[in-house]
This record gives sequence, structure tokens and C-alpha cells, in this order.
Amino acid sequence: MLAIIGGTGLSEIEAFDHVGFKQIPTPFSDDPVNIHLYKFENKEIVFLSRHGEKGSIPPHRINYRANIWALNSIGALDVIAINVVGGINPKAGPGGFIIPDQLIDYSHNRASTFYEDDLSAVIHIDFSCPFSSKLRDKLATGFADANQSQNESDQRSLIRGGVYGCTQGPRLETSAEIVRMKNDGCDVVGMTAMPEASLAREIELNYAMLAFSVNWAAGLGDGEISMTQIRNTIKNGAQFLVSVLSCCAKNYD
Ligand code: HPA
Repeated sequence: MLAIIGGTGLSEIEAFDHVGFKQIPTPFSDDPVNIHLYKFENKEIVFLSRHGEKGSIPPHRINYRANIWALNSIGALDVIAINVVGGINPKAGPGGFIIPDQLIDYSHNRASTFYEDDLSAVIHIDFSCPFSSKLRDKLATGFADANQSQNESDQRSLIRGGVYGCTQGPRLETSAEIVRMKNDGCDVVGMTAMPEASLAREIELNYAMLAFSVNWAAGLGDGEISMTQIRNTIKNGAQFLVSVLSCCAKNYD
């Protein structure tokens, strides 16, 4: 079963039939995790809003362990994560998309493993390739299909491959931090891929990300980063994003 984790600006998927909710208890919180159940062309798809139902949980306060645990216990096998990012690569400007194949984790103090209670055997997962290449291919196919139904002038750009740098937030970065991240090889910067991606690997879920660039990273655009512009970019891209997800769901078996 396919799961979608929605980020900022994607708290529901109106194009799919909403058939219910499930509240999944987990060992990581007194509160259950709310999972939306959708149907699309007779396929069950589960959806989780990363920032909570009201979109009010900041990146460093998200209970990543509870979320990933809940998706696993409801029977998800493949997880498509939607993450908004700032563009560092000149080709990753606002409105563009990227399916990263690598990440660098700059976040800290986040509960980042399921292997904490039983310390009788130390577990080190292989994380050389943090994203599932099969699922990345499926995302790229869905993206191409969605672009085909767009007018010529509304085509969206996609970078296949690239490095996602995950910062702690909730503040945005300094210009110097972005220069450092650029030197490190980061193409985009966001705050939510980790530890989500590594927890998915720990629990053996296939995980890939479609990142949506909503601003130039600090120091790379004109002046300060504007929340109004970010909101507008998200609004303008929301329909296309849902169209990509519909195409992915259509192709999913
Ligand atoms: N930095 C970090 N996270 C982000 C950004 C950014 O510029 N834009 C959207 N998410």
C-alpha cells in the first residue's frame, strides 16, 4: 500500500476519495497518529499530514518516530514524502521540483532511531542511498505524466537526483550557512527529511521524496525570504503536486 506524507501546504488530497480516518496508537506518544484513508481508482492510499491536522507542528517538534511507526503498522510499504525546500542549485528555483537521491543531515536533538530500548545488539542500518531508487523512478514517471497534461507554458521543471540538506529550523538559515551547504554539495535545503527518511529505512519502508522549491535559499535571492511569496508559490504549485500524486497513484500496483 502506498502512503503519502504531506508537508507544508498539503494537508489533504482533494482529488482522491476520502473514505475515513484511523487513529493509530504508537509507543512514542500518548496521542494516536491520525491517518487519512483515501481511495483512488479502487486503490487504498493512506495519508499523513506531517505538521499535524492543523499544520501547526514545527519541523523540530514533529514526532517522526510515531508517524513512521503508524504508517508501518497500518500496512504501508511505500512512502512518498512531499517536502517544501529552498533552492540552492541555480536550477532549483521557486516553483521547481527535485527528486533527491542523497541527503546531508544538519539537524540535531531529534529522536532519531527505533533502536533505543534493546541495546543488546547495536544496529547500524545501511544508509548509503537514503532514498528508494525504485520509488524515485515511479515518482519521476508520475511527474512526467503530470507535466504531459499541462499547457506548454505551465510545465514544471524537475531535477532528478541531487542532495537535500536537512537543517534544524524552525528559523531559516544564514547566508553563510547556505554557502557552506552549497560547498558541501547541497542542491536544496529543508527541515523535515530527517530523521523521517532514516526511520523509514530502519523499519524497512521504501521511502522517496518529491521536494518542491518555494524560495531561493538565504542569500541567493533578492533580499529577505518572504513568507508571502512562499505561500503564493505553494498555492500556485498545489494543483500540479496533486496531479503528480494522482499519476503516481494511477501507476501504482
Ligand atoms: N530553508 C529551510 N527549509 C525550507 C526553506 C529554506 O529556505 N524553504 C522551505 N523550507
